[in-house]
Amino acid sequence: MPRLRRLVSRGQSRGQPARGTSAHSDAGGRQPPRTPNGTPLPPPRLRMGGSHFRSDADFLAGALSDLAELRQWCNLGPGSSLLDWGCGAGRLAIGIREEFGRIGDYHGVDVQQRLIGWADRNLSGPGFRFTKVDDTHVHYNPGGAATRTLPVAPGSVDVFYAYSVFSHLAGADTIGYLGALAQALRDNGRGWFTLFVEEGVADEVENPPDYGPLDWTVPLHCVRYSRSWFEAQLAAAGLAVVTFSHGAYTDGQSRYVVRRALPD
Ligand SMILES: C[S@@+](CC[C@H](N)C(=O)[O-])C[C@H]1O[C@@H](n2cnc3c(N)ncnc32)[C@H](O)[C@@H]1O
Repeated sequence: MPRLRRLVSRGQSRGQPARGTSAHSDAGGRQPPRTPNGTPLPPPRLRMGGSHFRSDADFLAGALSDLAELRQWCNLGPGSSLLDWGCGAGRLAIGIREEFGRIGDYHGVDVQQRLIGWADRNLSGPGFRFTKVDDTHVHYNPGGAATRTLPVAPGSVDVFYAYSVFSHLAGADTIGYLGALAQALRDNGRGWFTLFVEEGVADEVENPPDYGPLDWTVPLHCVRYSRSWFEAQLAAAGLAVVTFSHGAYTDGQSRYVVRRALPD
């Protein structure tokens, strides 16, 4: 981590241009901070994940660490097509740009225009695209439509990634999107995502009191599922668990890697 911190600030002071991107200053005319390879980083107010990704170094380190897991567990490589569902301002895209330069197709999708707008202006280019969707979310996009669909062709995605998205969705939405994500995957595709799951709790609780490190203050701030209920929904969507890691991600979220459950 200290090495990363040095690298990030050195990249900032050098002010290198991002590969394949033009420089975009903020409303005050300031140039954004950049990674060592010159990719712009979003301003802190556009970074999701609370304090965890506030600093430049933590933001980049988180992306690189997730990318290492996608390589290990989901066979992500330079030719892959990846759906980053709930991409925010493109944290993972920045890690991919840093590590690979580009991949076959990175597609970031989110409901928040301010985040997608920044990502599109600063990170789009060959191999990188962003789509704003208008799905409803009581906190992130009130007034949108309840579609529970994805802007991707069936069977077109090698890997889907969804960091801390199901952690803010009601159960009925989670069921709908699991089905859509399963359909989006190629036969040998894999999914990687985090959410709050525990053993021996009620199937679904919004903002559970005395759970986790925070006071959950806004609607759908934390949705916790029972592990058995959630894994039953995975199976119903046609997804099988490849590996599970409990509690080690943001604010105590767990991480799943899944694949399509194909008939033998
Ligand atoms: C906690 S943030 C995580 C952002 C990003 N994955 C990251 O790790 O930096 C959750 C994101 O999911 C997005 N989101 C919530 N519901 C969504 C939906 N139905 N479709 C697409 N994005 C959604 C929110 O707008 C928000 O950017």
